Amino acid sequence: MKNYKINGTTLFINDFGGEGLTVLFLHGFPFDHSIWSHVCSRGIPGFRLIAPDLRGLGRSELPDGAGPTTMELFADDLHALLEAMGVTEKIVVVGLSMGGYVAMQFAGKYPDRLASVVLCNTKTTADPPTVAENRRIQAENLRTKTNFLKTVADTMIPKLFAAKTQAERPEVVEKLRSIIESNNPLGAAAATLGMAQRSDTTELLRQIDVPVLVVCGSEDQFSPPKEMRPLAGFAKRGRYVEIADAGHLPVLERPEKFTETLVGFLGELVQ
Ligand code: MLT
Repeated sequence: MKNYKINGTTLFINDFGGEGLTVLFLHGFPFDHSIWSHVCSRGIPGFRLIAPDLRGLGRSELPDGAGPTTMELFADDLHALLEAMGVTEKIVVVGLSMGGYVAMQFAGKYPDRLASVVLCNTKTTADPPTVAENRRIQAENLRTKTNFLKTVADTMIPKLFAAKTQAERPEVVEKLRSIIESNNPLGAAAATLGMAQRSDTTELLRQIDVPVLVVCGSEDQFSPPKEMRPLAGFAKRGRYVEIADAGHLPVLERPEKFTETLVGFLGELVQ
């Protein structure tokens, strides 16, 4: 666990160590680095695993007076983080949902730093106007109403998990609730505004010329299989894997299957 002062903020990271190609794990909204703990704490031989808290979320700072945290700004933070850590070679970026939006921006801005991308439960389209407007309302509520992250958790949780997870793994649901409710509401508001103004990255995906793994939960209601499967076809070197009995968070709902999928893919990169 370390803090790095970069790009006008302080980022908290869990550096799981390991030797080899660096894998950067980017969490979704409004979560933190700990969603990756099950995968990262066991290590993956041949890889160095790093899971940061994105700016304003988890234990990472939101600078005073900050405006929207755009996906580009998150990507710039990560580039600065890698520089500060002395990681100069190409890396693998694994992004879940909002982390996937950031991964795409990183790919667009820093293509020379990219060995591979793993897009989990995410999309490349921008928000339709009504969704963007709802995000602006949510951001205002996060800034002004006490405990609004509890409302966010209450709204999101029924849609985040597969039916089987909700019925059989209440501890997973509760863990995520606690991650959401522990977040900084101002950091969540800034990220919400950043997501509302993000651009479509589908054309960018078509240009990426490194291996791309697209992972989707079979019951994801936020980024459903019918929307995620085509992403693998858009990428020049894409592959699609669907994880059964998982919703938006296969990494928490089916951690063994998710890890097996990721480890298999990473292994092929270094063969
Ligand atoms: C996430 O999990 O990061 C969010 O569902 C992304 C979003 O709200 O678009």
